[in-house]
This record gives sequence, C-alpha cells and structure tokens, in this order.
Amino acid sequence: MRRGEQIFHDADRSRDGWFSCSSCHPGGHTNGQTFDTLNDGNHDTYKLTPSLRGVTRTGPWTWHGWQQSLPASIRKSLHDTLSTESTPTDGDIRAMIAYLGSLRHPVSPHLRADGQLEDAARRGKRLFETRAGCTDCHAGKDYTTAATYKVGLESPRLFYPEFNPPSLRGLHDKRRFLHDGRARSLEDVLGKHHRPEKLTGKPLSKSQLDDLIAYLRSI
Ligand code: HEC
Ligand code: HEC
Repeated sequence: MRRGEQIFHDADRSRDGWFSCSSCHPGGHTNGQTFDTLNDGNHDTYKLTPSLRGVTRTGPWTWHGWQQSLPASIRKSLHDTLSTESTPTDGDIRAMIAYLGSLRHPVSPHLRADGQLEDAARRGKRLFETRAGCTDCHAGKDYTTAATYKVGLESPRLFYPEFNPPSLRGLHDKRRFLHDGRARSLEDVLGKHHRPEKLTGKPLSKSQLDDLIAYLRSI
C-alpha cells in the first residue's frame, strides 16, 4: 500500500517529471478541474476529474463506464495521461490498487453529533428510496450500479452514448458535479440538469427537493 502511495505521488513516472496522479487526484480525491485525457474516444470532450475514494468498489470505470478493468485503467493512466517512459510491473499496479482501496470518504459534517441523519435528511432518504426513484441507478452502499444509462446529458459529440452513475458518497466534499463539471451545486444538479421529474416522470415539490439534497449532503 505504501509503495502504491509512493507511485501515485511520483512525478518521475511522468514525461519530463512535472506531474503525478496526485496533481489531478490530490491525495486520491479530485482537484475539481476538467481535463481531456483522450480516453473517451474524442478530442475536446473535457471530463471532471473523479474522486478516487471508494474507486476499487465502483466499476466499471470512467464517466462513460467503458473501462471494465481497474488494473487496465491504472496502466492506461500511467501510459497515456502521465506518458510514463517506464513500464509498470504487475506488482506496481497491485500496490496502487491497495493504496486506492485504503482511501476513505470523510464523515459528512451535515450529520447530527450522534452520527444520525437530521430530520430533513431522514425525509430525503425516504424519498430517495421510494418516490424519487434514485435507487434504480444509485443503489447499495456506494450508490451506484454497474450499468450505463442515457439521462439526457449526452451530446452527439460524445463517442460513448451513455454514462455510468457516479457514486453519491462524499458529495458534501465536492464543488463540481456531472461528467463535464457543468453543475456547481446539488441544487443546480437536481433543479436543472438531472431533474427527478425528467428521470421518473414524477415531480417533487421544492421542500421535497430540499429534503433530498439534505440527504445527499449527509452520505
Ligand atoms: C491530468 C489530470 C489527471 C491525471 C494526471 C490523472 N488523472 Fe485519473 N482521471 C482524470 C480524469 C479527467 C478522469 C475521468 C476520465 C473519463 O471519465 O473519461 C480520470 C479518471 C480516473 C479513474 C477512473 C475513476 C472512476 O471512478 O471511474 C481512475 C481509476 C484514475 N483516473 C486513476 C488515475 C491514476 C492511477 C493516475 C496516475 C497514474 C491518474 N488517474 C492521473 C484526470 C487525471
Ligand atoms: C436512469 C438512471 C438514473 C436515475 C434514475 C438517477 N440517476 Fe443520478 N445519475 C445517473 C447518471 C448516469 C449520472 C451521471 C451523468 C453525467 O455525469 O452526465 C448521474 C449523476 C448524478 C449526480 C451527480 C454526481 C456527481 O458526483 O457528479 C447526482 C447528485 C445524482 N445523480 C443524484 C440522483 C438523484 C438524487 C436521483 C433521484 C432523484 C437520481 N440521481 C436518479 C443516473 C441516474
């Protein structure tokens, strides 16, 4: 694990030695910037750097979910994103996966002091699991599924037609959302780009939306 952490932070792995995985994923999380890593079949289709917390459990990988193998994804990041000139060994990749597997989401500051959900978040949880239909795609303890979906955010410029639902854990620790970082708040995500009524045909009232967002900030 320590060896994986070292490789993750090692700028000598990049061409000309000026950046590492941690430049975009500081300490394994996200720097909140968009980049064109050219892995999605196009040019000029910038993607928000995903957080790598929980990443060993949330395959398939990349926003489009085309990458079925985490070791292959890490090799590709070393070769293509960092343009490494050394060939990583299987042991290097295993060590990096051990490091990524050790990353934890911080506890949400929106929970009550006893670690339980606030009342609004509790109401939001019920909506999330029932009327709002979120668990069709964001299920289980990591709030994701292994499938890909069309959710109305596709563009004809994209090579892959669908997206893999990102995990919703640790949203309280992010400032930009969706594959191209177009949303700057959860209000923006659910009020504008990823509206519940567009996904399920069932509109939510303003106060239900507030409850849902209170829940999302707590997980
Ligand atoms: C220039 C910034 C940048 C650097 C450097 C970088 N990444 Fe990324 N990483 C991204 C972006 C942007 C994506 C999203 C790409 C996409 O979905 O098409 C990504 C996606 C990933 C994913 C998939 C995550 C998921 O949830 O699907 C993994 C794993 C990953 N990077 C690991 C690494 C590792 C390991 C390194 C170092 C070898 C690295 N990255 C270096 C920007 C970067
Ligand atoms: C049909 C599947 C589907 C349903 C239903 C669905 N989502 Fe999503 N969700 C996705 C996909 C796919 C993305 C990624 C889209 C993108 O980035 O362009 C996403 C992205 C998100 C994001 C942005 C996360 C981030 O880190 O950028 C949030 C928040 C979210 N969904 C919450 C919800 C909530 C709350 C509900 C219920 C009202 C819901 N979703 C219902 C598939 C779904």
